Amino acid sequence: MEESRGDNSLMLKVHNLFVSYGHIKALKGIDLEVRKNEIVVLIGANGAGKTTVLETILGINIPDSGDIIFNGKSIRGVSADKNVRNGICLVPEGRGVFASMSVLDNLLLGAHHNMHNVKEHLNRVYDWFPILKIRKNQVARTLSGGERQMLAIGRALMASPDLILVDEPSIGLAPIIVNEIFDILINLNREGYTILLSEQNANKALKAAHRGYVLETGKLVLEGTSGKLLNDKRVREAYLGV
Ligand SMILES: Nc1ncnc2c1ncn2[C@@H]1O[C@H](COP(=O)(O)OP(=O)(O)OP(=O)(O)O)[C@@H](O)[C@H]1O
Ligand SMILES: [Mg+2]
Repeated sequence: MEESRGDNSLMLKVHNLFVSYGHIKALKGIDLEVRKNEIVVLIGANGAGKTTVLETILGINIPDSGDIIFNGKSIRGVSADKNVRNGICLVPEGRGVFASMSVLDNLLLGAHHNMHNVKEHLNRVYDWFPILKIRKNQVARTLSGGERQMLAIGRALMASPDLILVDEPSIGLAPIIVNEIFDILINLNREGYTILLSEQNANKALKAAHRGYVLETGKLVLEGTSGKLLNDKRVREAYLGV
């Protein structure tokens, strides 16, 4: 996709972000932006820092320096819980669903900070993912990989977010299921959700996204529209295998 629809005011701005784990410097000055109604992808190999970027935006990691601005206000140092209340949520790497809990209980967890309108949110998630309604009383461990990813996305939607951070949604899924998950993300975006995702599956992710950034060992090395990145020689060699 080349252009996002509708209002494209600035939603998220990450400015000169440095994050470390002890002596390991995971992010070394990251600058990125997400505009309302965009799908933006962060491409990077294992260990590049993708999860660290997403978790730091959510408030799981405290940055050493730099700033994160969400809807015009700094959220640096704000707790993940508060950020969820304010409209940011994370679909974690490896889905992060609770395997021994039912599908329904996993979904209800997504709404724990705000149980108003929970029925309405639940029905909306079931409209998006009819399979979750069918499976609502099953424990999550009995779901297929694709269904678990749907559950993880559905749980995020229960918090009625404005910005959804999705960490490597395609990992471990068969290609046909990956297509299905990307189609879901594209449709969510068309319904007004803004999405920042991370991926190693650069080809499919760039085809779904409007813009992207390439992250290598904690630094951004390239950015641009998906069309530009898909045609970039370095991206093609390093991330598309062509
Ligand atoms: N809790 C931690 N303690 C120490 N080092 C960490 C921790 N989490 C991540 N790191 C290190 O920080 C760097 C960035 O890791 P991160 O998980 O953000 O990368 P990633 O791009 O998400 O990788 P992957 O594709 O494997 O998920 C890596 O060098 C990693 O080893
Ligand atoms: Mg990761």
